[in-house]
Amino acid sequence: MTLKLIDKYLSKFVNESDYERILPSLEQAHKTLTKRSGKGSDFLGWIDLPVNYDREEFEKIKKAAIKIQNSCDIFIVIGIGGSYLGARAAIEFCKGQRYNSVRKNTPEIYFSGNDISSSNLAELLEMCEGKDVCINVISKSGTTTEPAIAFRIFRDMLNKKYGREEAKNRIFVTTDKCRGKLKELADAEGYETFVVPDDVGGRFSVLTPVGLLPIAVSGINIDELMKGSADARERYAICDINKNDCYKYAAIRNILLAKGKAVEIFVSYENALNMTAEWWKQLYGESEGKEGKGLFPASVSFTTDLHSMGQFIQQGSRVMFETVIDILNSQREVVIPYDENNSDGLNFIAGKDMHYVSRTAFKGTAIAHTDGNTPNIVLELEKRGAYEFGYLVYFFELACGISGYMLGVNPFDQPGVEEYKKNMFALLGKPGYEELGKRLLDKI
Ligand code: PA5
Repeated sequence: MTLKLIDKYLSKFVNESDYERILPSLEQAHKTLTKRSGKGSDFLGWIDLPVNYDREEFEKIKKAAIKIQNSCDIFIVIGIGGSYLGARAAIEFCKGQRYNSVRKNTPEIYFSGNDISSSNLAELLEMCEGKDVCINVISKSGTTTEPAIAFRIFRDMLNKKYGREEAKNRIFVTTDKCRGKLKELADAEGYETFVVPDDVGGRFSVLTPVGLLPIAVSGINIDELMKGSADARERYAICDINKNDCYKYAAIRNILLAKGKAVEIFVSYENALNMTAEWWKQLYGESEGKEGKGLFPASVSFTTDLHSMGQFIQQGSRVMFETVIDILNSQREVVIPYDENNSDGLNFIAGKDMHYVSRTAFKGTAIAHTDGNTPNIVLELEKRGAYEFGYLVYFFELACGISGYMLGVNPFDQPGVEEYKKNMFALLGKPGYEELGKRLLDKI
């Protein structure tokens, strides 16, 4: 089995009557989602995406990926939030955190336009000197400030470096099929474009060209990835908590929240999953954190963070639970050598693969944290590969939709994100924001 929920570290915290009590709410959420009758139902395109996607666009992605692989050393992906996290998560999940540094026949991939740091951008511009560069700018709305600034700067760099005609072959735009400034610009300049489907929101868009083009450029097999998500879609179609681990996960989260566990920590023992954690945090944070409700999604990478956050998780405020991704098989093996003198005292693990030690650390930690009243949900994942990533994506997206409806919120909007933007525009003097600008000046 690709993914399995292990509930043995929950027995102290969740019992049969908890499941019985929450069942009606789970069944209602299932009905609402599958009948597409709830809040945000215009944004449910992700549900069928693994089987119902634009095959022509998919082939276009593969062709563009080969063209990009053959024409650049550095590929820059410009986007923020849902427009970059999924792709970055997939690349690190499948290829490791050091993808850019290891020997390979695919371009280095850097992500930009996900902050407003001049130092960060200047550094990347410098890294592009003397290198061939291609860009993929991704913005569903086509109006988001952070990627728009970065795109203006890198477009300018490419126009100067190659001339406008050649730059055109190096710029790929992923945006709405007809709306937005970015679409207007792409059409005017003749850039190749890819479509973000209308009914798929940013944080649910990794299985669209938003995620798939950068993922394909890194050499990951996107057919495998889609197959993984399609298999998960089939597996988690049934509304039976005993047969559907995805629904069980959604139910447990809500049971624990009702018991005062308002912080969920995503835990992994592979730093290759650090960006998957970031993707997961956005998915759950933006989907559930509204109307004064929701679990706060946090993340740690063990065993690294056992030496920083471990203390708090063991003994600090008892407000949290952990969702641990336990990867059964490592991509690589490193066996700990035997030392005749045993000068470091490590011979008791000589001959063992490091992954065995890591999984043992996980087991010891799960017992310790559970004893310290931090419940552990364990998701056993067979290995790190394209298929598994697609499977995991669908698992978390579906659980998020179900869990959000159980909470009673619209999991598919993000009204709170607009607040900072309005203030920033007003303070920067954007036309149309003059009145707000005056009011804000009194506050700063
Ligand atoms: O999930 C979301 O909708 C957001 O995180 C968006 O992806 C993010 O704000 C970027 O938006 P856009 O793609 O329109 O630039």
